[in-house]
Amino acid sequence: MAKQWRAPGPGPVEDWTFDDVEVPAPGPGEVTIRVRAAGINPADAKHVAAPRPGATFPVPIGYELSGEITAVGPDARGGSGQVAVGDEVVAFRVQGAYATALNVPAGDVFAKPATLSHEEAANLLLAGTTAAEMIQVTRAAEGETVLLHAASGAVGVSLLQQARTLGIRVIGTVGPDSEESAERVRRFGGIPVAYGDGLEERVAEAAAGEPISAAWDAVGTDEAIDVSLALVSEADRVVTIVAPQRAESDGILWIAGSRPESARFRDIARAHILELAASGALVVPLARTFPLADAREAVRFVMQGHPGGKVALVP
Ligand SMILES: NC(=O)c1ccc[n+]([C@@H]2O[C@H](COP(=O)([O-])OP(=O)(O)OC[C@H]3O[C@@H](n4cnc5c(N)ncnc54)[C@H](OP(=O)(O)O)[C@@H]3O)[C@@H](O)[C@H]2O)c1
Repeated sequence: MAKQWRAPGPGPVEDWTFDDVEVPAPGPGEVTIRVRAAGINPADAKHVAAPRPGATFPVPIGYELSGEITAVGPDARGGSGQVAVGDEVVAFRVQGAYATALNVPAGDVFAKPATLSHEEAANLLLAGTTAAEMIQVTRAAEGETVLLHAASGAVGVSLLQQARTLGIRVIGTVGPDSEESAERVRRFGGIPVAYGDGLEERVAEAAAGEPISAAWDAVGTDEAIDVSLALVSEADRVVTIVAPQRAESDGILWIAGSRPESARFRDIARAHILELAASGALVVPLARTFPLADAREAVRFVMQGHPGGKVALVP
């Protein structure tokens, strides 16, 4: 018997239940994983907060994890090749990572980069593949300057590191009173500017005469979108991952893992993100870990909007 967090119906994290679940022998193409850490993303709570077309409840919570293979089903082939009992792996995108053990499709299971702890590895791929898609859809290229909103967050920090490997200069917004956020942005090669009144002028000043070629929005405020549109001459080089309504009204791009074209891109991008991590070019700063049993508290900590790094659940 395993334990797993599930949303019994649409609603807040307070409604989630920590259930006993059977984990049968893995079926064809599946493996069983003993979870060592589950990654937490804002989507975990957002996707079950309200009724969604196609969602059938109960919904097992959590899209990514790190752990060990404990059983291999018939014809199971991993995303990075053969899989065997005892392998240390990450899995993304799966359903129900907030668990002690579960069965997942082997194609979504990859060798864990030795450079990362389980807690870090469990938080690598959702933010990493989202960031990779933001870079790709805005056609950001070496030598350009890009504006990044919410630069100190999980997606932001992955963007900063991936941009650095590509030779892209990033001006990243941070909380006006948060020296910690500014320091994190500097550590990963970005130029921090405080969000809030006067943002456009501060970004222009930080750009020091260089044009802002593109913008990556990971917060979705009107301020972020308005300043992006004021500074970037082509609307289709501004992407948001939070404000689809502004994409609709202003002709900017919106991407989301639930969209088939994004899901396809991100599936392919997993291997590249894992390689970057294995080479040491991509790390995952952790804010905290919580016991798996305290998932509700951990998710509330992330959802207050300033977690200061990734958060992992540890069974
Ligand atoms: N569409 C997609 O595919 C997709 C994928 C991943 C994430 N997301 C969404 O993207 C957002 C960010 O995710 P995450 O995992 O990076 O979150 P996170 O790690 O919790 O980071 C949130 C960041 O937002 C910043 N922030 C808070 N208020 C702000 C404001 N008014 N203006 C600018 N920045 C502000 C915070 O910076 P300070 O602490 O410095 O204030 C913090 O660094 C979430 O809404 C998430 O649901 C969407």
